[in-house]
Amino acid sequence: MASYDVIIIGAGPGGYVCAIRCAQLGLKTAVVEGRETLGGTCLNVGCIPSKALLHASHMLHEAEHNFAKMGLKGKSPSVDWKQMQSYKDDVIGQNTKGIEFLFKKNKVDWIKGWASIPAAGKVQVGDEVYDAKNIVIATGSEPSSLPGVEVDEKIVVTSTGALELPKTPKKMVVVGAGVIGLEMGSVYARLGAEVTVVEFLDHITPGMDAEVSKVFARTLKKQGIKFVLGAAVQSVSTTKTKAKVTYKLRKNDSEAVLDADVVLVATGRKPFTDGLGLEALGIEMSPRDQVQTNAHWATNVSGIYAIGDAINGPMLAHKAEDEGMAVAEVMAGKSGHVNYGVIPGVVYTNPEVATVGQTEEQLKEAGHAYKIGKFTFMGNARAKAMFAGDGFVKILADQSTDRVLGAHIIGPNAGEMIHEICVAMEFGASAQDIALTCHAHPTCSEAVREAALACGDGAIHA
Ligand code: NAI
Repeated sequence: MASYDVIIIGAGPGGYVCAIRCAQLGLKTAVVEGRETLGGTCLNVGCIPSKALLHASHMLHEAEHNFAKMGLKGKSPSVDWKQMQSYKDDVIGQNTKGIEFLFKKNKVDWIKGWASIPAAGKVQVGDEVYDAKNIVIATGSEPSSLPGVEVDEKIVVTSTGALELPKTPKKMVVVGAGVIGLEMGSVYARLGAEVTVVEFLDHITPGMDAEVSKVFARTLKKQGIKFVLGAAVQSVSTTKTKAKVTYKLRKNDSEAVLDADVVLVATGRKPFTDGLGLEALGIEMSPRDQVQTNAHWATNVSGIYAIGDAINGPMLAHKAEDEGMAVAEVMAGKSGHVNYGVIPGVVYTNPEVATVGQTEEQLKEAGHAYKIGKFTFMGNARAKAMFAGDGFVKILADQSTDRVLGAHIIGPNAGEMIHEICVAMEFGASAQDIALTCHAHPTCSEAVREAALACGDGAIHA
């Protein structure tokens, strides 16, 4: 029977990164993964394929709306959906094979199949039982269900089905104005669908800085996406080819119905731990069905750890990766650390939205005295050249020490730009530190510097 220092269950971003780091630290490592390919939800049916479709549909949007303005004339491209799907699948394939290569390079074994944990120190896959000094649960999450709504992945789909619709729908209803709903909703809106997003709350993107959320909603509306806010979806009924979505407005309990060819249910995700045998092992779970862990990602059963979407915290691939690296360090006898205060969040629409640290609402609630430095992309030459002058950078800094507490960006390449603020926050930098750092001209990142300047004596181009 094979025996390992570490067996990781799940080869998503948390699990595979953990495995590579374990191997780098000299631990004999295996990963159990039941999918045909490595990379988990993120790579196979999540972050990566959706980014391919976002990129392709953004290109179409540029061709339709901005090419002629730049003197690029001619017929706009038409959508070859089959080719777009194969481009997306190719992107997935390149990346899943990349992880296989990294596993071989680092001598990480891939045990194919679905794992259970019959006892501490043992992992079972099919009829085989493997010994493991340490086990890491990195099994991720699955879409949570909505009462009254049955998903068939054809007409009523989760994010998985939304990535491989047989054709682009004419009318799409998205349930939930969270990240998945808005990203996939904007893909299909750009490809020509009439998209209506029904959201329970009175605003989109729960938890996001309210000012950014407001501008974001306005921008998406301008792009043609319709919103029904403050509305709880009650049920979805389907025929062979169509669906009817019934929702109730919270303010007056009135009901209304929307017709759709496709309904995307994007009302959150829940930890996926089915079949592991956690209950029999006596592993403590949270009331939200997450595996309960301590500050070192250890469960209450010795030698069993958990990371990523299966535990507490934002369900983000990069949070899982960080935990994967950190728990590897812990298992190798080192000290692993994740700074949960500096985990960026990005919505990959166009414009992108990127945030890190605290929102204004959180600071107000905590009674923390803060100042705001804000700069709009209208004052940024590079953004204007890209027709991307909408949006802004907002930096929140401590009123007396000037230490950066959070930043919120809506605008071009926001998901890339946020990282200089992440680094600044990791180093405990002040807004002035960013303001005193020379930024190349002309770049969109200059807007970050200007926002930092606005925390002090003022931005230059405002
Ligand atoms: P979410 O939790 O972000 O948003 C779900 C939304 O659905 C909420 O606004 C909620 O109020 C609404 N809702 C719930 N029940 C409803 C009902 N009956 N009627 C109308 N609205 C209802 O969940 P989402 O978008 O499904 O994403 C799941 C997870 O995946 C999140 O944790 C997200 O952060 C992560 N993710 C992150 C991405 C990124 O970072 N770019 C991309 C995709 C997913």
